[in-house]
Amino acid sequence: MAPASPTSGRDPTKAKSILILNGPNLNMLGVREPTIYGKETLQDLMTMAARRATELGFLTDARQSNHEGDLITWIHQARGEHHGIIINPAGYTHTSIAILDALQVSELPVIEIHLSNIHKREEFRHHSYVSKVARGVICGFGGYGYVMAVDAMARFLKE
Ligand code: DQA
Repeated sequence: MAPASPTSGRDPTKAKSILILNGPNLNMLGVREPTIYGKETLQDLMTMAARRATELGFLTDARQSNHEGDLITWIHQARGEHHGIIINPAGYTHTSIAILDALQVSELPVIEIHLSNIHKREEFRHHSYVSKVARGVICGFGGYGYVMAVDAMARFLKE
C-alpha cells in the first residue's frame, strides 16, 4: 500500500490552492433536474469558479466522482497539496460519516456547498454530516454558490 501523502508537498513560492470536490451525479448537471439544479454543466460551473479564484490570486483543482472512495482519497491527498477544500458532497452529504472523517483528517478549512436549498427540500436532505466539519455552508444559490465559496475560502486563507 502506498504511504499517506506527506504534509510538506505544498510549495510556499506558489499561489495557494483550493481543491473543489463534487460528489455523485453532479457530472449530470445540465440534464439532471434542471428546475432544481439549473441548466449549466459542471464544467461551466468549475470554469466560473476557477476564473474567480484566478482573479483573487488562487489556484484551483476541480474534480468529480461518483465513488465515495475516490473523494476520500483526494481529501487525504489534499492535506499535503492544497490549502482549503470546497466540497459539494451531493448525496453523500446525508449519508457519509467516512467523508466527514476524511475531512477531519485533512485538517484543512472546508466549505460545504449545495446548488439547491437542501432545507427547503425533502426531510432526508436536511441533515448533513459534512456540516460538522465545515467552516460554513452555502446552499440555494445555484452555480453561483461556487463563486461565493471561492470568495469565502480566499478570505479565510488570506487571514
Ligand atoms: C445537492 C443536494 C443533495 O441533496 C443532492 O443529493 C445532490 C445535490 C445540491 O447541490 O443541491 O446530489 O448537493
